[in-house]
Amino acid sequence: MMAEPGEARRVVVIGSANADLVVRVQRRPLGGETIAGSRPVVTPGGKGANQATAAALLGADVAFLGCVGRDAHGDLLRSALADAGVDVELLAAVDVPTSVALIVLTPDGENSIIVADGANGALTPELLRQHETAWAEASLVVMQLEVPLESVALVAGECLRRGTRFLLNAAPAEVLDAEVLRACDPLVVNESEAAILLGVTGAATPSDMVAGLLRLGPASVVLTLGADGAVAGTAAGEWFEQLAEPVREVVDTTGAGDAFVGGLATVLGRGGGLADGLAAGARAAAVAVQASGAAASYAGMRGLR
Ligand code: RIB
Repeated sequence: MMAEPGEARRVVVIGSANADLVVRVQRRPLGGETIAGSRPVVTPGGKGANQATAAALLGADVAFLGCVGRDAHGDLLRSALADAGVDVELLAAVDVPTSVALIVLTPDGENSIIVADGANGALTPELLRQHETAWAEASLVVMQLEVPLESVALVAGECLRRGTRFLLNAAPAEVLDAEVLRACDPLVVNESEAAILLGVTGAATPSDMVAGLLRLGPASVVLTLGADGAVAGTAAGEWFEQLAEPVREVVDTTGAGDAFVGGLATVLGRGGGLADGLAAGARAAAVAVQASGAAASYAGMRGLR
């Protein structure tokens, strides 16, 4: 069921919620090397929770469906999501510790991330079936790939059957079933994720990448290009280009891609088009890179409503 243009409708984000354990270092350690880092900081993260937070701060009616542990990290995530205005009724507390992301940040604002296993793995197809009405009747369902792939397959397949719009941010990249790819409208990836999905190692232009991804079955594809903005194409032959918003200083890129997805989802969930969605995503990402943390860097998004 697609939203009518201008009609405010619900976005359901299904996915990961992580406690981000962030350490700043001068450079990444080599294999077998020990280096000193800053005092660690724990902040709310996880691609799913970040995307829901961004969409809520941008004014979307958004619910988050995910799993956290019955622990301090779970409490941190629940209250951060609720404070941003996300409906957390569907956030389950499970008997597995909250997932943790180990994040190393270098002075250029770039990050390396390891997501450790935890409660995200409890977001099973069985749990999703229990809440099926809540997500299948949304105007837009948003997922990423930090949760079990069989859960992504279930939601994608059901959205395809019911005609519910499904946005998949294929991060971190995984090889995906044909049906999952067919359900995407849009599939959202960066260049390295696109290369994995396409199985290419050499250089390819953004338009070649989008064309290649469209051949895998999505109705539309959004390719994010970092400081070069984003492009999008549809199976109907449309093409969109969006420049990145200028920023004063890049402080921390963690969660910038999620901010982009949150902005895009806010527009698509209201029945808007890809051109407006890319512009909203670019504005949200510009806010995110100018402050520290993932969701912690999103506060300025309220001013973009
Ligand atoms: O995209 C950024 C996010 O990736 C971080 O918040 C971290 O939790 C990982 O999921």
